[in-house]
Amino acid sequence: MTKIFAHRGASSTHPENTMEAFKEALRVGAEGIELDVQLSKDGVVVVIHDETVNRTTNGKGWVKEYTYKQLQKFDASYKFSKKLGVCRIPSLEEVFSWATDNNMILNVELKNGLVEYEGIEEKVLELIYKYNLSNRVIISSFNHYSMVKFHQLAPEIETALIYMEGIYKPWEYAATLGAGAIHPYHPVVKEETVKLSHDLGIAVRPFTINKIELMKKFASFGCEGIITDDPKKAISVLR
Ligand code: G3P
Ligand code: MG
Repeated sequence: MTKIFAHRGASSTHPENTMEAFKEALRVGAEGIELDVQLSKDGVVVVIHDETVNRTTNGKGWVKEYTYKQLQKFDASYKFSKKLGVCRIPSLEEVFSWATDNNMILNVELKNGLVEYEGIEEKVLELIYKYNLSNRVIISSFNHYSMVKFHQLAPEIETALIYMEGIYKPWEYAATLGAGAIHPYHPVVKEETVKLSHDLGIAVRPFTINKIELMKKFASFGCEGIITDDPKKAISVLR
């Protein structure tokens, strides 16, 4: 079965990367969520997509220059505030704590491509162990050095390589890096990509799949998952 991962939570209807968006993904029946993490100034793993708070909150500046407590003051419901009231930037710990009451698969994307966030792999791993989530966490990133590091720290946890284009034989590349999956930008995924990945035991979960015909196409290719902003639509199409 092609599992449905809500991209930044149910981000087509709720403020991205907030507890409200993750709860909505659970409510509509998604099997998993995708969320983006970075480090605050005081080293807390926080859930936000951009390296700055500018786009998604009413604040301004770099995530890494605010403490967790300071980040909590911003409203992450910016575009949706009239409907939902104020939403906060969650910590990864808050998401993990919530997840212990459900069976969601947690696709945690480390956003450490532009800002290095020294030690983010160890901090995320510590939280996974604290909440006993090793068997339903996927760690993904565009930073493949970080994915190699994470695999070395915890080979039992699946790592996934995110990429846009131009990777030669990504299934062989993933296997070489110890990754269990590739998470490609969907236009570069052909049926053969999925077949050759599966031959090497590599799972394929393309992003961001919001159109009905693409949902059907990647399910028919046998992808293990699709990453979508609209889990409700994906459920109505695929279930
Ligand atoms: O997990 C895939 C996807 O989230 C990568 O792109 O920019 O939405 O984090 P982005
Ligand atoms: Mg992401």
